[in-house]
Amino acid sequence: MKKWYAVIGDPIAHSLSPFMHEIWFQENDIEASFLPIHVEPSKLKQACEALQLLGASGFNVTLPHKQAIIPLLDGIDDTAAKMNAVNTVVRNGKSFKGSNTDGDGFVQSLLTADPKLDSRVLLVGAGGAARGISFALKRAGFEDVTITNRTYRRAEELAEETGSKKLTKAEAEQNLDGFDIIIQTTSVGLAEDEALPISLEKVRKGTLAADIVYNPIDTPFLKKAEEKGCKTLNGVGMFVYQGAIGFEKWTGVKPDTEKMIQVITEKLGGNYVNR
Ligand code: ATR
Repeated sequence: MKKWYAVIGDPIAHSLSPFMHEIWFQENDIEASFLPIHVEPSKLKQACEALQLLGASGFNVTLPHKQAIIPLLDGIDDTAAKMNAVNTVVRNGKSFKGSNTDGDGFVQSLLTADPKLDSRVLLVGAGGAARGISFALKRAGFEDVTITNRTYRRAEELAEETGSKKLTKAEAEQNLDGFDIIIQTTSVGLAEDEALPISLEKVRKGTLAADIVYNPIDTPFLKKAEEKGCKTLNGVGMFVYQGAIGFEKWTGVKPDTEKMIQVITEKLGGNYVNR
């Protein structure tokens, strides 16, 4: 029987996951479909029951359901538990198990830039995305991670939990030249006209600046970083790798990530050679 997968969210029309997974199914001769499904928060439980009843083989969960889905699943893995958020659900017989591939997806993308493991890393933000990334950085062997955030208390809490260092935003801005990698994990940059989450005035030339936002491809943070002579890494790689880890969990097949980064970059009107 033909398998089917889905992504649920509100809104959902903008999601590139169906486009990406359909290409990977074709490339790998897998007979399956991938549907975007609009689910309002008040209908999440019914939607989850419907996915179970109608035999979805797995699904992605996007905003605003990443936390709310947890009690509706039959279980979650350690990564999703640490992040208290699920982005990928895998069917195992009659049960749905949640996991989270966002943090590892980001780190796999970061590794394509060939960073040294002893790099001094500054993580800007302390929300859900920063959580996943800080745990994944530690798992990958990055030891020197500092967290800064507009609301300092959240930076302190996350730093405590992940064994990272912490700085106030003002301290981080003053000491920006002490970092080799700066990772932008906040929602700033989703709208072109928004301000930067941190001033890049003191950034050192050659520092790697990475953003998790992929639409727009050139966020204000990355534009400023480029102006200051930084190397940049946009959010397309994270999007593709988080999907690829999920695809492998569902099908057992490792899809072609490099070609997909090129396809998605071009679809978003970006310039692939700049990566
Ligand atoms: P997500 O799950 O996408 O990370 P979140 O948990 O709401 O979402 O976290 C959003 C992050 O973006 C937080 O670090 C937030 O900072 P606060 O903890 O101070 O709220 C950060 N953020 C959002 N808007 C911001 C802004 N205008 N300037 C700086 N940081 C901002």
